[in-house]
Amino acid sequence: MDERYKILLSESEMPQKWYNVQPDLLTPLPPSLKEDGTPIKPEDLEPIFSMELIKQEVSQERWIEIPDEVQDLLKIWRPTPLRRARRLEKALKTPARIYFKDESVSPAGSHKPNSSVAQAYYNKMEGITTLSTETGAGQWGSALAFASKLLGMKCRVYMVRVSYDQKPYRKLMMETWGADCYSSPTNMTESGRAVLKANPDSPGSLGIAISEAVEDAVKHDDVKYTLGSVLNHVCLHQTIIGQEVKKQLEIAGETADIVIGCVGGGSNFAGIAFPFVTDKIAGKDIKLLGVEPTACPTLTKGPYRYDFGDIAKLTPMMKMYTLGHDFVPAGIHAGGLRYHGAAPLLCSLVHDKVIEAVAYNQVDSFEAAMLFANTEGMIPAPETSHAILAAIREAEKCRETGEAKCIVFNYSGHGFFDLASYQAFFEGKLEKFEYSDEDLARSISKLPDIE
Ligand SMILES: Cc1ncc(COP(=O)(O)O)c(C=O)c1O
Repeated sequence: MDERYKILLSESEMPQKWYNVQPDLLTPLPPSLKEDGTPIKPEDLEPIFSMELIKQEVSQERWIEIPDEVQDLLKIWRPTPLRRARRLEKALKTPARIYFKDESVSPAGSHKPNSSVAQAYYNKMEGITTLSTETGAGQWGSALAFASKLLGMKCRVYMVRVSYDQKPYRKLMMETWGADCYSSPTNMTESGRAVLKANPDSPGSLGIAISEAVEDAVKHDDVKYTLGSVLNHVCLHQTIIGQEVKKQLEIAGETADIVIGCVGGGSNFAGIAFPFVTDKIAGKDIKLLGVEPTACPTLTKGPYRYDFGDIAKLTPMMKMYTLGHDFVPAGIHAGGLRYHGAAPLLCSLVHDKVIEAVAYNQVDSFEAAMLFANTEGMIPAPETSHAILAAIREAEKCRETGEAKCIVFNYSGHGFFDLASYQAFFEGKLEKFEYSDEDLARSISKLPDIE
């Protein structure tokens, strides 16, 4: 058995293609729909997105070439290490072997730049000067600010208010890379003004911030919108993670039994898990497990229905597990997991039982983060701690059964800018939010009437 702590790949071993799961789905992806219920056409999305990204959104090609310039940008931090959590294993007294893919080594501190550099690149090639976006925890905003700076573009970020207040350093990070960062809801857009009129103290949500950033792009010709998760092309760009993991496990003489990632919009989990989907469909006994917060239990409690991606209904309707587009989750500290829906590709695979999901509350997740920090030494983002907790629970099951499983999870980001959340945890101020069945029934009663 391999004795290494980390398995590293050389730059020449970095994957040169993205893996597109679309042709391998068991059920073809239901089309995205306009508000009148007719399928969206690529030209409908042109005012918002780069044309090349729209092509990737609907592509049925299994492998898509990563442009040379994007590969060069990715090599600033990729390939990322696959680490073995030996001290955590020891503390858990488990026969399981736990590995984690360290996406926190990117300049912005998470997996998000895997897609931001690609999205900025395609927009730049099409003559766009400015990118607009929303951000939850601030990870995607900083990833896009970083990519925009590298490609000489401007960047405007609408940051969910609760996170804006909790994480001032994320805003400063975006500004360091030259981006403008606003607390959403703002007074600068019609969607923001409408929310503030109804509730001046709105904590904001990803749905609201998306409405603002999309409106910015629609109203300005030189601005295009970018999304940090959910969409097919974002999941596509993240598959570089799982492809590297497969090579690294092979070097370690391992094959994964359980692959875990936390789920906000679904992109980091898609990134690590999708490259394993064909193995699972071919009959390999492998568990692909997405982890969400109990405060926002999209995959575990939501119905699989058509819904809008944002509160102002500016995005197309997508078939996904959803808690309703006007659902504003409790202000949990894993801001990046507060999204009412999830990636349609991921939802299709959950619906077809290729992928499983579980929900954990933030207090238990912080406890897992503490155990991780005190064994492995690394301080995870609150989002990532949900994946860590799932890995711990699976390792504990192995302790009961004596099975020596190989567990791999995505360490999606570090928590260096989340220490105020750790402070709230130390002071016992965190709540174990659960989303009640009554609230769920109310919010899904407003879903579009399309099955
Ligand atoms: C560190 C980290 N992990 C995970 C997520 C969840 O996003 P996604 O599900 O798209 O990977 C976020 C989102 O902001 C994040 O910042």
